[in-house]
Amino acid sequence: MPGLQRITSSLLRTKPVEQLTSDGEHTALRRSMGLIPLIALSVGATLGTGIFVVLGEAAPLAGPAVVVSFVIAALAALFSALSYAELASAVPVSGSAYSYTYATLGEIIAWVCGWCLLLEYGVSVAAVAVGWGSYLNEFLGSTLGWRIPDVLAQPPGDGGVVNLPAAVVVLLATVVLLGGIRESARVTTVTTMIKIAVLIFFVCVAVSAFDSSHLHPFSPYGVSGIGAAASMVFFSFIGFDAASTAGEEAKNPQRDLPRAIIISLGIVTLVYVLVALTAVGAVGVDAVSSSGASLATVLEQVTGRGWPATILAGGAVIAIASVVLTVLYGQTRILVAMSRDGLMPAVLSRVGRTRVPTVNTLIVGGVVAVLSALVPLGELVNATNIGTLVSFGLVNIGVLVLRRTKPDLPRSFRTLVPVVPVIGVAMCGWLLIHLPGVTWLAFTLWSAVGLVVYFGYGRRRSVLGKAGATEMVTPEVHS
Ligand code: ALA
Repeated sequence: MPGLQRITSSLLRTKPVEQLTSDGEHTALRRSMGLIPLIALSVGATLGTGIFVVLGEAAPLAGPAVVVSFVIAALAALFSALSYAELASAVPVSGSAYSYTYATLGEIIAWVCGWCLLLEYGVSVAAVAVGWGSYLNEFLGSTLGWRIPDVLAQPPGDGGVVNLPAAVVVLLATVVLLGGIRESARVTTVTTMIKIAVLIFFVCVAVSAFDSSHLHPFSPYGVSGIGAAASMVFFSFIGFDAASTAGEEAKNPQRDLPRAIIISLGIVTLVYVLVALTAVGAVGVDAVSSSGASLATVLEQVTGRGWPATILAGGAVIAIASVVLTVLYGQTRILVAMSRDGLMPAVLSRVGRTRVPTVNTLIVGGVVAVLSALVPLGELVNATNIGTLVSFGLVNIGVLVLRRTKPDLPRSFRTLVPVVPVIGVAMCGWLLIHLPGVTWLAFTLWSAVGLVVYFGYGRRRSVLGKAGATEMVTPEVHS
């Protein structure tokens, strides 16, 4: 059936890697970032609400073994990170997993991946902004003795009407991004250093009260508890791939992107394990959980004074704001890539006077601000996790496919195939099955909407489709 064959080949058309790279070379974006700003971008996008808020929610699921959950989530992230690193070194353009799958698995899968990344980036910014709002209130309470009333600090369904602080931090980040990447990178580097300093401060104080009896029983809910907690704290690792959205703004992407991804993952894993271990060791699982995820409260309990907690809450406000900034940045760059390919409207890749995609940034900032103002944290976190795990799975598969279809493509970083990508897919799958059914339902609906948009808009406007380039995945196997 020639008709069916034609549709299948158009769905599976892949964007030639050389074309992706040359799109990137002719970019209007500015190449200004070296290794350190790239690491800061990734760490900046990663350390945030996960450790400051989600630790407290995951601890009761696994007990002290929540430390193991962090390690498992880190391993899932690591295997995918290695795949990311290889693809980032081979296809160093903005757009992250979306661009990689376009080059390897075909347009329809790239679209699905890009659609999932809207959850990973767009929805997670909203989740992170909600976490920021609670820490701002914690900080205001401990310094001024006044808190923003719930009606203006909680979404509907959580006892409020609108989460104003969350929306405000998103809008502030939007303004910073409109100022240009150089400024944004500088802000990110400084805030990232502050948050690492604050978490080291936490570890130093908490370790002074470490009592190993708090670690017994270590794993009261066994493997299933550890798994449930791992799929939750996976949220805290999301963002390490943010450097891969900056392929076109890196000075030396082939060398620096893989390094930045792996180094940043190492840094955050170390910090998470130390923070989780010392928090639970200092006050026990119940206190970590009952403190409403507030590491500040743990410090208060350990020291019996207010000032260490105030320092920590202030640091969390800065830390989480920088996550909002960097993840928002990532979202806009993914949309640039999708728009340049014709799958999203052209206005999203139009670059303004400050050489940033102005309209795109305004739209993303506006939509995310509304989401963060109106949707509760838990739902945002789960939606983020499912979208991310699916896109990570696709990146792992992409590595295997690209090795087969483009074996000679220069790669400054090579992961161990097939072992690493296969373990990466398996670990993403294991975490996915631990997510709640309602999250799966929402995800199915989201995917259906995405397919409607693709078939109603992107497929016909695809630049690749118009150019008649239909480089197929399967037939082209180089020996
Ligand atoms: N990893 C990011 C955080 O924990 C999303 O805030």
